[in-house]
Formats: sequence, structure tokens, C-alpha cells
Amino acid sequence: MNIVLFGPPGVGKGTQSALLVEKLGMVHISTGDLLREAVKRQSPLGLQAKSYMDKGELVPDTIVIGLFEEVFSKSDKKDFILDGFPRTVSQAKALEGILERMRRNLGKAVFLEVDYGQLVYRLTGRRICRNCNSVYNITFKPSRKDGICDQCGGVLYQRKDDEESVINTRLKAYEEETSPLKAYYQAIGKLTIVKGEGEIYEIFDRLKEVVH
Ligand code: AP5
Repeated sequence: MNIVLFGPPGVGKGTQSALLVEKLGMVHISTGDLLREAVKRQSPLGLQAKSYMDKGELVPDTIVIGLFEEVFSKSDKKDFILDGFPRTVSQAKALEGILERMRRNLGKAVFLEVDYGQLVYRLTGRRICRNCNSVYNITFKPSRKDGICDQCGGVLYQRKDDEESVINTRLKAYEEETSPLKAYYQAIGKLTIVKGEGEIYEIFDRLKEVVH
């Protein structure tokens, strides 16, 4: 089934998407990852996006929708997980048009739900491999060797927007611009809520139930 996976920053979208890819062979498209890649390459789009991302604000719809459509139109035709897109109601409407043009359909919009207190803990503790992008957490999912990736031996780093001062802006942007997506998907009968608290594999079991 094709899904949109959405929820607040740090709720576990990337972690669960990686499992859905590994265990169910789905295709994962994350606009956060695409934007970070563009920033790393210092492409014109990346340079434009960086100032918004560093502050914890959303990148303007026009930039993100174009980037998403370009990548999505070239992606494998397997079941997809959209992680971090759409993030505004206008992106959700644009997505409908893109899916229609590509003769694809959305099965469900899955909202991952976690208590706000947990989010700050998860985000400040997150570490990412500079080489292969594997995600760790110093409290909940530490690497075997401090600061080193278990998968490839790469060095782990902390995202700039995972600093506490920026997290507050991200949570505010989520509340104001992304949370209305719940009502949007509810109104078109696509919303499914999955509890995002507990062990990572416990949550994955809940997700598997709804994406089959
Ligand atoms: P993006 O990268 O999409 O950030 P986000 O939505 O804020 O989500 P995160 O990646 O922070 O969290 P996640 O839910 O994936 O959690 P994770 O699995 O890593 O976007 C970054 C920026 O790009 C945005 O702020 C914006 O500027 C821009 N952007 C992107 N898309 C855009 C769009 N469509 N429109 C406009 N702008 C856009 O988990 C977090 C941590 O918790 C990890 O350390 C993990 O190990 C740990 N963890 C996971 N599950 C559990 C668990 N069950 N228990 C304990 N710890 C757990």
C-alpha cells in the first residue's frame, strides 16, 4: 500500500521508514533527506533551503513541491512511503495532482502520535552517520562504539536543527503548518493514527498491520 507517514519532528518517521524499506521492500522518499543532500552538494536549491532549515522553519512550498515531483517521477513503481511530504495542506493538494498525473494512488495517511515531552528527548539525543545516514540515539539506540556508526564505521554527527533552541521553532512550525493535515486526511477518509510510543519494533508491528 502507498502511504504518507506524518507526525511531529522526532516522532520516528525516518526510523520506521527504514524498517518498512528493509522488511517490506517499499520505496522511501524523505524531503528532509533530499533537502539535506541538496545542502551538502551546495546546489542553488540547497543554498536557498539551508537558511530555512537551520532556523527550523519550513522550506517554501514552491521549492519543496518541485523537488519532490522531480524525484518522485523518476522513482521505482513499488509501494511508496512519503516521509515529511506533504507538510502543509497546499503540499497535500499538490500531491493529489502529482499522483493523478502519474496514475498512482494514496492508500493511507498514517499519523504517528507521541507525547510532546518524548520528542525533545528523542531529537536532542539523535546522532546520524555522516557517511551512510544511519540514525542512532545516545539514550534509546546508541551505537556500539561511541560516535562511530555500527553499519559502516562512519563518524556520527548531530543535526544543526536538533539543537534545543531550534527544536522549539520546528515544533511551532509543525503545530501551525503541518498539524492541519490530520483534519485534511480525516475529511477525505484516509487518516489512520498509530501510536508511536514504545519499542521501535513494537511500533513497526503496529505499522505493518495498517500498511498491508
Ligand atoms: P525532516 O528531516 O523531515 O525532519 P522532521 O520532520 O523534523 O523529522 P525528523 O527527521 O527530525 O524526525 P523523524 O520523525 O524522522 O524521527 P527519527 O526516526 O529520526 O525535515 C528537516 C527540515 O527540512 C524541516 O525542518 C524543514 O525545514 C525541511 N523540510 C523537510 N520536508 C519539508 C517539506 N515537505 N516542506 C517544507 N520544508 C520541509 O527519530 C528521531 C530520534 O528518535 C532518533 O534518534 C531515533 O533513534 C529515536 N527514536 C525513534 N523511534 C524511537 C522510539 N520508539 N523510542 C525511542 N527513540 C526513538
